[in-house]
Amino acid sequence: MSNSFESFLTQHDDTDWLQVLFKLESSIHPVDRRATRIWFSFFPLKLKRAFDAAEDRQKFETDLILKGKYLLADQVDESARFLYGHRFWPQVKQAVAAYAESSNFTTPLHEQIIEVATKVAAQVNADKSLLIGITAVAFMTLEQVGLEKMKQLALMTVKHAAKSPEQIVTERNTDDSQGVLGFLRTVDKRFSVTFNEDIPAAKFPVTNMQDITMAAAEDKRPHHLDDPRCKEGEGPLPVECRTCACGTCWVGVLSDTAKLSPPTSREIDKATNVFCYSGFTGEKDSPIRMACQVKCYGNATIVIPPWHGQLRKLKNYYQAASETEE
Ligand code: FES
Repeated sequence: MSNSFESFLTQHDDTDWLQVLFKLESSIHPVDRRATRIWFSFFPLKLKRAFDAAEDRQKFETDLILKGKYLLADQVDESARFLYGHRFWPQVKQAVAAYAESSNFTTPLHEQIIEVATKVAAQVNADKSLLIGITAVAFMTLEQVGLEKMKQLALMTVKHAAKSPEQIVTERNTDDSQGVLGFLRTVDKRFSVTFNEDIPAAKFPVTNMQDITMAAAEDKRPHHLDDPRCKEGEGPLPVECRTCACGTCWVGVLSDTAKLSPPTSREIDKATNVFCYSGFTGEKDSPIRMACQVKCYGNATIVIPPWHGQLRKLKNYYQAASETEE
């Protein structure tokens, strides 16, 4: 049975949450501004609610061509590890669970998030701006997994990089050195794509103007052992087609998008109408991109989502659920 705060949260859908994020955005530290939007794209309510409405899990996954870990309930303590604020997750989780049990929730959602973030910031002696994104994540996590799971102790397995948030922002926007005669290089400039900021070796080289998935395929390390969606010897990014037909290669972009090619018309069409990934805006600064359509003109830092699929048929599940209720 849900408590009154859970009931309050269920009144919000993805559109409401977009508004909440918009109101919070300027208060979130730059290190987590794009990361927060990316996390909400990876774990949309529409997917969770359609899953709840589905009677046959296997059919649901087949219909949506779903692969990987798409349920937040299976990764409560790890899903937001790419946020700087994740290092405060145990305290944030505990504070949000306590808030859910004690408050009367008369203020708008974004103000409630700031209230809890402010309390935790004082507790961990950190700037409030570093807590707001991760607190918004915790509120959405509570909405998707319920209070009982939020009350469980956090099981943290990630060792966060010992860098300041400013250092991380600077590193994301800095290109690899091209050497003493680098000014002579043009098409043969070499950059790096980082896919996990907590692991120094989690990067692969990319040549100027090369597609991210083509560059990733040259990384022959056994990434398939970490993510079964990856093909052996084809790098850390799950890919199927490399022609923007399958929806497998979506990524979140943490770094400056000025050094990436803008979305192609095919990418805009497929990502919007077939893959239907939340957070893909079609704009150059979109936090979500299809990696097989992105060329690099500098270093890039990306996040690989834990699942992929084609969400075009999601609305069938909503309709089925609402027809059953009538
Ligand atoms: S690999 Fe299929 S859409 Fe990019």
